[in-house]
Amino acid sequence: MSQPLFRTPKGTHDVLPEDHQYMTYIKKAVRHRARQAGYKRIDTPMFENKAIFERGIGEHTDIVEKELFLVTSKQKEDEEAKFALRPEFTAGICRSFIEHGMQQLPQPVELYAIGQCFRHDRPQKGRYRQFHQFNMEVIGLKDPSIDAQLILVLAKIFGDIKILDRLELNINNIGTAENRAAYTEALKDFFIGKERNLPELDQARLQTNPLRLLDSKEEDTQILLKNAPAMDQFLDDESKEYHKTVLEYLDELDIKYVENPTLVRGLDYYTQTVFEFLDNETGSQNAVGGGGRYDGLIELFGGQPTPGIGFAGGLERIVWHMKQAGIKVPHKDQVDVFVAQLGPEAKKTCLKLISELRDKGVHTLGALGEASLKSQMRLADKFDARYTLLLGKMEVKGGTIILKDMAAGKQKEIPFEEAIPKVIELLGGKDKLDTYTMRDQFVDVDED
Ligand code: HAM
Repeated sequence: MSQPLFRTPKGTHDVLPEDHQYMTYIKKAVRHRARQAGYKRIDTPMFENKAIFERGIGEHTDIVEKELFLVTSKQKEDEEAKFALRPEFTAGICRSFIEHGMQQLPQPVELYAIGQCFRHDRPQKGRYRQFHQFNMEVIGLKDPSIDAQLILVLAKIFGDIKILDRLELNINNIGTAENRAAYTEALKDFFIGKERNLPELDQARLQTNPLRLLDSKEEDTQILLKNAPAMDQFLDDESKEYHKTVLEYLDELDIKYVENPTLVRGLDYYTQTVFEFLDNETGSQNAVGGGGRYDGLIELFGGQPTPGIGFAGGLERIVWHMKQAGIKVPHKDQVDVFVAQLGPEAKKTCLKLISELRDKGVHTLGALGEASLKSQMRLADKFDARYTLLLGKMEVKGGTIILKDMAAGKQKEIPFEEAIPKVIELLGGKDKLDTYTMRDQFVDVDED
């Protein structure tokens, strides 16, 4: 193999056809469950005014402080970048909610999105600079049953793709913005005089975002935290009651969860309910998804006070879990028929035959080059075709065609006009073919 001149940039990867089979399967489950629950699809731009992320996610979060990809153009090279690639969907969707007056729609507004996000993080297993999220938001109404129902939809999706039992749902309530401010002060007070015992990274966090100390991976920090005030002492009664009711509803819906009082999540917009689906073996390092309430975000963006809750799952991490679990996804990429031909007449006839087979919903490949019949048959084998139709000069003259069952290694000559009905019969009849009507296409739109 020749050495490539170029490779994918660090932290990015090609989604090759084999991975697409997984991606398509996951997206299908997401679309299906989302539609059942009344969610509508939205796409926001891949880049937005960077202030949206700074304000929404928070200036002192890792995502904004270290991981934003800034976007400039040739003309504005020397100016400070105004735009950034989206590191997540929630901020952009809330911007869109306000921009399009969605508060006029019947509430709550349920939206879902699937697409690429960008974070300039240090790449490692399960952590990329470009990755895919599926994202769901419920905006405009607040009730513990909404939180529970969102979590139920997610549990259904993870169940559909058969990884639910590999995951552990962790849930917490981090209170109102006021509760959090009071708790943050208490944490800061607690660490007065102890700063020097903290690792460097956490010393910085203590200054900028003390809550992040709670889910710090540093052992020294965790030891110190054992005696620190706990967040639930700072929750107001309403938040406590809200949390209790969410848990009751989860029980009612038979959803297993673990209460995790140190779960804070790394984005500033959260209030009250926060949750994550973690790998039940390795824990927090590789959450397949997380979410929570953000009741102040829309107001922060200049909208009327509007509550919201949402979730995002990482597709690459989900695919990894599916592969680990040995799940083989059904896909539609198989080759049903390979058409081989020899001679100019046969080639012309086969062009039409291939087109007709495809229109009928038969996955058809054809060797339309000048290779020998033998090498075309080898190709049919390599493509793993189930049947081969073979048209040589003799068959053209005799009005016949050779049909070969590749697995059985048997072949027979049949009248040419029987080729298509015979293939359809062998594939299990019309119902088994890959046909679509425009109506299906409209309902099950985007595969991307
Ligand atoms: P997040 O926890 O930052 O939340 O990301 C959600 C999921 O995206 C993660 O659990 C992970 O599976 C995946 N993910 C994040 N960063 C990477 C990365 N660098 N490489 C691969 N996968 C990654 C949010 O993004 C919130 N917007 C969720 C939300 C929606 N909250 C309310 N609404």
